[in-house]
Amino acid sequence: MLERMARPLRGVSNGIASAMGAVYRPLGAPGRLLQDFLNGSWLGHSLHAVLVDVVVGGATAVLLLDVLRAFFGIESLETAAAWVLGLAWLSALGAILTGLTDYKDTAPNSAERDVTGLHGLINIVATVAFTVSLLLRLGANHDAGFWWLLVGYLVVSVGAYIGGHVVFKYGYMVNHNAFSRGKRAKEFTPVVALAALPEATPTKVELGTTAVMLVRRGDVVHALKETCSHAGGPLSKGELKGDTITCPWHFSTFRITDGSVVHGPAGSRQVSYRARVNEGQVELQGPYD
Ligand code: FES
Repeated sequence: MLERMARPLRGVSNGIASAMGAVYRPLGAPGRLLQDFLNGSWLGHSLHAVLVDVVVGGATAVLLLDVLRAFFGIESLETAAAWVLGLAWLSALGAILTGLTDYKDTAPNSAERDVTGLHGLINIVATVAFTVSLLLRLGANHDAGFWWLLVGYLVVSVGAYIGGHVVFKYGYMVNHNAFSRGKRAKEFTPVVALAALPEATPTKVELGTTAVMLVRRGDVVHALKETCSHAGGPLSKGELKGDTITCPWHFSTFRITDGSVVHGPAGSRQVSYRARVNEGQVELQGPYD
């Protein structure tokens, strides 16, 4: 149902995602660092999810403070409510910024992008209501501020529900390898002859049913899971630079030695394997993450 509701917004959704790309592209390396920060690559998962907790939790607390003030006539709660709403409002601005940064890397013309776009638009409306509530409170009009907060709270609750839908249905901004990393094997398993592995060229091999990307440097081989932790892009088709590989889809960059994230949008490190050369065969053991 949400997909049907969001589908007519596809033009707007695609436009917003493209505009975000156009904003970041000219910023070069500093823009990349800003994106890393907003994606939450440094945190190990989405920064947006953290800020959303503060928005919804803060708005709930303000609602409670307003109700207590109305019932018990404790006027000093007006000030507390305004401060908490200020914090929730700042977090809402951060949530919009982080959300837009994550959003630009969704697949064009996809149901995931449509529904995520609907989620974002609804939460922008909620943020407008929070802004009006805050301004009214700063003007000492706390009763009107309560009603605008209530509107914002109801709207943000719908937005949060839709946000949960895109995470749980589409796996939006979660580790793409969460359910496919496989059980860790203690033994080393041969996957390819060293002689068949080209030097310094990302190469896809199979370890049982798992695709793995290998990079050979002389007699040393590095191994990462083939599918990118961000959204499943093929790492063996990525760009190898020094000891990093950059995914061709949205340019997450991982260290080939251990799968750690160098640049987002990926937040989760890439699954890695121990590799050794034994009697001319490349053997893998793992996975590790
Ligand atoms: S799939 Fe998005 S960066 Fe790899």
